Amino acid sequence: MKVTVITAFPEFFRAFFETSIVGRAVERGLLEVDVVDLRDYGEGSYSKIDDYSFGGKGGMVLMAEPLALALEGLKGDPYVVYPSPQGVPLTQETVETLFSKGDVVIVCGHYEGIDERFVSSRVDLELSIGDYVLTGGELPAMVIIDAVSRLVPGVVGKGRSVEEDSFFKGMLDTPHFTRPSSWRGQDVPDVLLSGNDGAIEDWRRREAVRRTLERRPDLLSRSGLLGYMDKNAFL
Ligand code: ADE
Repeated sequence: MKVTVITAFPEFFRAFFETSIVGRAVERGLLEVDVVDLRDYGEGSYSKIDDYSFGGKGGMVLMAEPLALALEGLKGDPYVVYPSPQGVPLTQETVETLFSKGDVVIVCGHYEGIDERFVSSRVDLELSIGDYVLTGGELPAMVIIDAVSRLVPGVVGKGRSVEEDSFFKGMLDTPHFTRPSSWRGQDVPDVLLSGNDGAIEDWRRREAVRRTLERRPDLLSRSGLLGYMDKNAFL
């Protein structure tokens, strides 16, 4: 999997690409990353990359030409993503689609955004990470990269079986516990200490459904699991 970021703030990504799970994936060559400094493609002696918004209230907009030059400087034919609050919502399904592309470039906007002519002619997918407005696309880019890199084989260890994954897909996670088994008067559920794999599996599935039903019933109806639960008298 290869991910390239085009940004006016490359320093944002230094620690990210060197730390924790993503950092290890990069170090082990499981994830190829590149950060392109938009200023390298700026205009004139000041490397100008932005200008005032036409008809706007004084906000700055990243210009189309430096963005196009930065994109044209890349090898291959990457899938172009632009994080923006106007995009389609990022979901696990979108993350899987991006992973399947293999070669993805994320163009980070800043200030008021980027020139719409670049978006309409060069961007394959405009993606929002939620209904709130951030100061730029760098944090959303990291969110997207983090989620995609988890899917690269070997990045997060063995993971669950495919069968289990298909059951848990579209649901919230089960609760997790670690040592000690009793902490300040709160005990880990007995079943998790029982060593009975079947009973543990049943408990985990039940908890995943219960939590999802309680907190995010919209996910259950979307994934078709409500029908499954009816048929199996799950709760
Ligand atoms: N850029 C600014 N806010 C954003 C958001 N909510 N999602 C994606 N990109 C953004």
